[in-house]
Amino acid sequence: MCGIVGYVGNQKVSNLLINGLKRMEYRGYDSAGISVLQDGKIQTIKKSGKVSQLEKLVDHTLYDSTIGIAHTRWATHGEPNDINAHPHHSSDDKISIVHNGIIENYAAIKKNLQEKGYTFRSETDSEVLAVMIQAIYEKVQCLEEAVRFALNEVDGTFGLLVLSSHEPDRIIAARRGSPMVLGIGDGEYIVASDASAIIQHTRQVVYLNDNEMAIIKRDGFETKTIMNEATTTHIQEIEFDLEHIEKAGYEHFMLKEIFEQPETFRDAFRGRLLADKGNVKLGGLTQVQEKLRQAKRIIITACGTSWHSALVGEYIIENLAQIPVEVEYASEFRYRNTPLYPDDIVIAISQSGETADTLAAVYETKQKGATPIGIVNVVGSSIARETEAGIYIHAGPEIGVASTKAFTSQISVLTILALYLGRMRNLSQSDGKRIAAEILEIPDKIRRILNRSDEIKALAKKQAKSRNYLYLGRGYNFPVALEGALKMKEISYIHAEGYPAAEMKHGPIALIDENMPVVIVATKDEIYEKVISNIQEVRARKGKVIAIATEGDENIKDYANHVIYIPSTLPMLTPVLAVIPLQLIAYYTAVELGCNVDQPRNLAKSVTVE
Ligand code: G6P
Repeated sequence: MCGIVGYVGNQKVSNLLINGLKRMEYRGYDSAGISVLQDGKIQTIKKSGKVSQLEKLVDHTLYDSTIGIAHTRWATHGEPNDINAHPHHSSDDKISIVHNGIIENYAAIKKNLQEKGYTFRSETDSEVLAVMIQAIYEKVQCLEEAVRFALNEVDGTFGLLVLSSHEPDRIIAARRGSPMVLGIGDGEYIVASDASAIIQHTRQVVYLNDNEMAIIKRDGFETKTIMNEATTTHIQEIEFDLEHIEKAGYEHFMLKEIFEQPETFRDAFRGRLLADKGNVKLGGLTQVQEKLRQAKRIIITACGTSWHSALVGEYIIENLAQIPVEVEYASEFRYRNTPLYPDDIVIAISQSGETADTLAAVYETKQKGATPIGIVNVVGSSIARETEAGIYIHAGPEIGVASTKAFTSQISVLTILALYLGRMRNLSQSDGKRIAAEILEIPDKIRRILNRSDEIKALAKKQAKSRNYLYLGRGYNFPVALEGALKMKEISYIHAEGYPAAEMKHGPIALIDENMPVVIVATKDEIYEKVISNIQEVRARKGKVIAIATEGDENIKDYANHVIYIPSTLPMLTPVLAVIPLQLIAYYTAVELGCNVDQPRNLAKSVTVE
């Protein structure tokens, strides 16, 4: 949510910052702006709309500056217009800031500063930081101190970069609850909210900790806490390559990521699944192994698509390990007084590892003495660092705002986790081997579905005028119905509802008429016959049935208007296969409707505000 980038070094900065913003545009695209220090003054250009709008206004020949900061915004306070765009200036224009997060007590601070005669231009919470730093600077005459004092006054979260003509040789970066990564190049530093803006310049990075700040100059950097205590830095290497954050010939990142799933699903279990032993090795859980063995209950908490994979995980873990599992939206978990006991395990699932609500749920877990475990994609992210143990999903950067490959990789990890927990309990080795053998087959089965994408594209085109969709599934495939509906809503703006198939008759059935496409996951398993009854209920109301069925099931053609076949697998593994056609239907519908697939309106990839 909001991308921020800053540079100090020996290269001309404006082009470099714009390129950095483009790499992070998936984090927010309501407005964009840059500030550079030119001839002793801060020069700022900002514009509502996407980075390409800003780029048109920036004449790179005007600037030979080698220091600057930039921002791409996902609006929270104040509509996304030019004035509310970042960077924000102090009222004397000598300090410029870019900010990701929310300053909760901004109204009181603003009032106080206004009473002292300071003026404001925007409706944002962020601007108070710039003006407050100015007010403090006027007293202390030291930028670092002014930033530090200001940050100690604010409630809320920040990923912050500060540039000032008072001290033109430095950028000050700080974070609390919002990611901030410092890339260390040769005589240059690039600091950003996302490693994807850095990788073009260097792979060596330092992840700032919460309440830590960095003073970054051309000849070196220093980190300390915002309480002015010295901190030690740990230089790490970015794990992915540039090609991972490029489209590689695909029209959209989302399509590329859908097609990566045979590999990403495998990468999530590679080196962990011991197929010949019917067991699993999870190095990231070694230190909590005994707690897992003793656990009486698991709570899985997440948001969005990750919450859907949590629901799949609930069914698989309860089946294989016979441990009661509860799934809870992180936003609910953190605020209601959830009873938690020391032998509870709380699994936080998050692609970005930065979702504010999920991170808060991890803090709440720690506060109450239970054990937090992360299932995270982004290495070094806040949730990965705040949890006691964890399993990376290794899906590589996911840029499309609508999550696809992270979902299937999360299920890959949840499946092997269930196997791991099961084998600690009553699951036999032969059952373990049988499940492991089937997991190994999944990548190829995903590939077979992807090979039929043209058929799904034609179907999506035919249905694109529909204004509503209903998605139904039962058992393991109920969360798939939710995820299919979410994908459709997110990128094509068509209203879609996911429902347990059997619950349809308690409400949604009233919506069904000849204009309503109903996507039903009807794979061959023990509840297949029941799902066929649900299909008949839809057909009786003239609904158009699109069935996701198991290859070889000819019978279903008698009931459905259209059948999309997926290969047969174990029921617990069908979600990974069944979701692929649903991702493709949503994708091709959005393309047909001319929607911006990778940057759907109002959404952001990583939601670092509550
Ligand atoms: C946002 C994204 C979703 C994502 C959700 C949770 O809403 O647009 O695609 O599923 O956040 O994100 P996380 O990074 O925690 O998985």
